[in-house]
Amino acid sequence: MDRSVQRLLNRVSLAFATIATVSLLHIYYHNSLSCAPAGDAAYRHHHQTLTLTLSPFPKTSCDAAARDHITPEKRFAKLRSSRAWRSRVDAFADLFRPLHPLGLLSNASHVLCVSAGAGHEVAALHESGVADVTAVDLVDFPPLVSRSDPHNLPFFDSVFDLGFSAGLAGALFPTRFVTELERTVRRGGATVLAVDRCSPKEVDEIRALFRRSSLLEVRNVTFIGSEMTLIIMKNNGKPPS
Ligand SMILES: *[C@@H]1O[C@H](CO)[C@@H](O)[C@H](O)[C@H]1NC(C)=O
Ligand SMILES: *[C@@H]1O[C@H](CO)[C@@H](O)[C@H](O)[C@H]1NC(C)=O
Repeated sequence: MDRSVQRLLNRVSLAFATIATVSLLHIYYHNSLSCAPAGDAAYRHHHQTLTLTLSPFPKTSCDAAARDHITPEKRFAKLRSSRAWRSRVDAFADLFRPLHPLGLLSNASHVLCVSAGAGHEVAALHESGVADVTAVDLVDFPPLVSRSDPHNLPFFDSVFDLGFSAGLAGALFPTRFVTELERTVRRGGATVLAVDRCSPKEVDEIRALFRRSSLLEVRNVTFIGSEMTLIIMKNNGKPPS
């Protein structure tokens, strides 16, 4: 991969990793996890879920506390009532708004969101009236996001009208990530990427990751105070050569 793309992606990657970590920590510290040891938050969550599922009786008072508090429903309810949730959902709503006049998004659209985290973008789409939204990430986050590898999506070709991701930077294999997202979008549909603010040259490099789409529009946007660029690719439906 081109060095400057790699540099760009690393930069974006760091930003998203930070956001993800802060979100997870936020969820953690608001779910009586003061007794959990320090370590990787995502791992701890899974570990804890496993403990809760597998052990018939709580071994310690800490387990008992966790059993009381960490149901996915409670975790989500807590997150959804936070101010951070609201501002991020609103920011996604702003991001999606220009897609309506372009004819790329309507209430009837089938939308796929990849690397969706806790599902802020799903909530934004639902609130705007788009009912059919599928969202995946490496770690599931019920009820809005289920688990799938973005590099190997469990969907048929051309089944979505719109594919969206703000997670390209976190992808281990950016080319594979983009090709998979693009594959699931129908001809005439669009793949939209939200990435860290980029120059025309960097846009070209990201555009080159696509195999059967052409650049429709690039927009510099502000996303909760971050300078970002929205890259809108229209799917030509040509089979990859
Ligand atoms: C889309 O759904 C929203 C929310 O239900 C509604 O307010 C809006 O009028 C709908 N848009 C169209 C074009 O039907
Ligand atoms: C977006 O901002 C970058 C960096 O400031 C600039 O190079 C680029 O031309 C801008 N793109 C658009 C579409 O305005």
